[in-house]
Amino acid sequence: MQNDKIYYITTPIYYVNDVPHIGHAYTTIAADVMARYQRLLGKEVFFLTGTDEHGLKIEKTAIAKGLSAKELVDDVVKRYIHLWKVLNISNDDFIRTSEERHHRAVHAFFKLVKEHGDENIYLGHYEDWYCVPCETFWTEAQLVDGNCPECKRPAERVKEESYFFKMSAFQQRLLDYLAEHDQFVRPQSKLNEILGFLREDLRDLSISRSSFSWGIPVPDDERHVIYVWFDALINYLTAAGFPDDMERFEKLWPADVHLIGKDILRFHAVYWPTFLFAADLPLPRKVFAHGWWTVEGEKMSKSVGNVVDPEVVVGEFGVDAFRYFLLREVPFGLDGDFSQSALKGRINSELANDLGNLLSRTVSMVKKYRQQIIPAADCENQHYKEFAALNDEIKSEVAQAIDNLAFHKMLAAAWRLVEKCNRFIDEQAPWALAKDESKAAELDQVLYCVLESLRLLSLYLNPVMPEKTGQMAVQLGQRSPAVQSGPEVFTWGRLETGVEVVKGESLFPRLD
Ligand code: ME8
Ligand code: MG
Repeated sequence: MQNDKIYYITTPIYYVNDVPHIGHAYTTIAADVMARYQRLLGKEVFFLTGTDEHGLKIEKTAIAKGLSAKELVDDVVKRYIHLWKVLNISNDDFIRTSEERHHRAVHAFFKLVKEHGDENIYLGHYEDWYCVPCETFWTEAQLVDGNCPECKRPAERVKEESYFFKMSAFQQRLLDYLAEHDQFVRPQSKLNEILGFLREDLRDLSISRSSFSWGIPVPDDERHVIYVWFDALINYLTAAGFPDDMERFEKLWPADVHLIGKDILRFHAVYWPTFLFAADLPLPRKVFAHGWWTVEGEKMSKSVGNVVDPEVVVGEFGVDAFRYFLLREVPFGLDGDFSQSALKGRINSELANDLGNLLSRTVSMVKKYRQQIIPAADCENQHYKEFAALNDEIKSEVAQAIDNLAFHKMLAAAWRLVEKCNRFIDEQAPWALAKDESKAAELDQVLYCVLESLRLLSLYLNPVMPEKTGQMAVQLGQRSPAVQSGPEVFTWGRLETGVEVVKGESLFPRLD
């Protein structure tokens, strides 16, 4: 392996009181693309996703269905595990907060925080507004005329004994850290949001509840269960081996990237670092918060009934087109809108017309003019040199885009090569060269350049479209991108020549 430090990337752990939709698919696909790209480069990768399974909502839903909470979560988690298979997600682990290993980790973490300062966690009283029908706590500021902002019914004041985490004690340390690590919260707009939030004094955080029992008990006080974030965030440590295998943990932690949606930015960029400060553990290298998807211009909601099931989209349009669309449509970090017409538009123009057609016409020409055999390269040829130089540019554009999680730029860089090839074929007119015996060497080089570009495209695009790029490699008579890795993968001139192309089905059939 290249690095003794593994590339460690995470998604949020999703709540199991909801079925997965395109929002969840988005984060997980983006993380998958990062993981696959790093593996291609030869890094050892640890890619984690999972589910957040505790809490009052789950307990209530289970009771209503006549199930135990554990039975309920065991059932819903299957939806996630199944969807990740359908979407070709290459996660290395799947963590569930109801697992024993996580229970041990939360206990060890709780104790560690206390060891580093007995006053870091203390018993007090939690007081807030509570909406009984919605089973939700609200702060004074969230209430609308004293009513629940969701159902508009009166909220009641409740007071409950609770353990608190002394978050206020770590505010200055966090501000200092952010000043020194301007890449910690990305994109910049999200860092600004956090800095704005930190202009106000941080309050201590309630981290336990005694009003329900579906959760991890507080160590040495079984009347309480640990509440939400002091349970959920620890998953990133659990899966890395904390506390069972500290040798592995030290190799994996800190994570390179926590990929999240903007809805949970504050928990990852304020709460989580303060927890880690208190435990004296290193902070993750980066928290990247992406934007929000609406559907056909509207907010996704169960009551509107417009929640998009990724499996249905994949059934109709294919998994790779779906993955491509999500990452190409919106600059990563900004909000976006999902619509069938936009998806079809990109499939027809970029995937079918630009890429699919390039592959099929190239393979056809090799079949027709070269008895299917890929011609040898001539490194002195002008086209060869020009393409090699272009590929050098694209390779570094792709690398830089990936470093910044700018998937749209990564795809745009790859598309420069697609467009170059299509233009090049039109300009060189291989069909005319084929008629002239004296142009045979020239035709060889034209075909070589396009074939080698297509081979490289099967690698550049592999993290986004693992299936289709595999089919590309088959048609090009090349090794599968899935078995390749190392710093040399994107180097020009490594096309295997003298082998046969294999005419196959069209990669992306046009849609009406
Ligand atoms: O928040 N657009 O879980 P969750 C884009 N369990 N992304 C979306 C989205 C949308 N419309 N809807 C959801 C939780 N997401 C906690 C996390 S982590 C320690 C605990 C994605 O099931 C996005 O990644 O509500 C968002 O952050 C996540 O789903 C929230 O998932
Ligand atoms: Mg949510």
